[in-house]
Amino acid sequence: MIIFIFIIIFLFLFIIYLFASPRFSPIPYFPTNHQDLNLIIKALNLKNNQTVIDLGAGSGTVIFAAASNTISLNTKFIAIDINPVLISIMHLRRLFHPNRKNIKIIWGDLFKIKYNSLTRKPACPELVERVNSLTFYLYVSPWLLEKLIENLKLKIENFSVVSYFYPIKSLKPKKVFKGKNNIYSY
Ligand SMILES: C[S@@+](CC[C@H](N)C(=O)[O-])C[C@H]1O[C@@H](n2cnc3c(N)ncnc32)[C@H](O)[C@@H]1O
Repeated sequence: MIIFIFIIIFLFLFIIYLFASPRFSPIPYFPTNHQDLNLIIKALNLKNNQTVIDLGAGSGTVIFAAASNTISLNTKFIAIDINPVLISIMHLRRLFHPNRKNIKIIWGDLFKIKYNSLTRKPACPELVERVNSLTFYLYVSPWLLEKLIENLKLKIENFSVVSYFYPIKSLKPKKVFKGKNNIYSY
């Protein structure tokens, strides 16, 4: 019995460590406000042959809601997070999601991901534009946003961004959606 209690306490402390340690959570976990989901889905402008990547996806609030809206499309969703607890939660949620075939979950560091291997390769060159419609959803700390965008620009040619809560100072927004919090589309 004592051993069991120790295991529970250890697991509890380990989970707290995962959420508090800067190694696992350089950007703290705050889920997107549910009341803004409809506006975010509008801002993502979901369509066929599009890949949406949530960098720092948390428990998958946005990815799963967006994937529910594209059952009849072939839009792909990729959720990346560094926290193994949140990754496990997303894997569980994916199991029961009606559009799970289009959802990929990756445990990794958003600064180290090799994006080319994530998006689908075009069958022929003239389809490049059509299949490479890539949108990033970002809800990350403002002091990391610029570094992240610079990093993406170095690795990928064409992409659009939807940033929740924080504007990206180096980019001019196409549109700002006013919800509980602002949603910036670039
Ligand atoms: C503000 S939360 C946003 C969660 C989710 N995108 C949402 O909108 O509900 C930021 C997330 O980024 C994750 N994160 C922090 N640093 C990361 C890194 N280097 N690589 C991948 N994910 C990271 C955290 O674990 C956390 O879940």
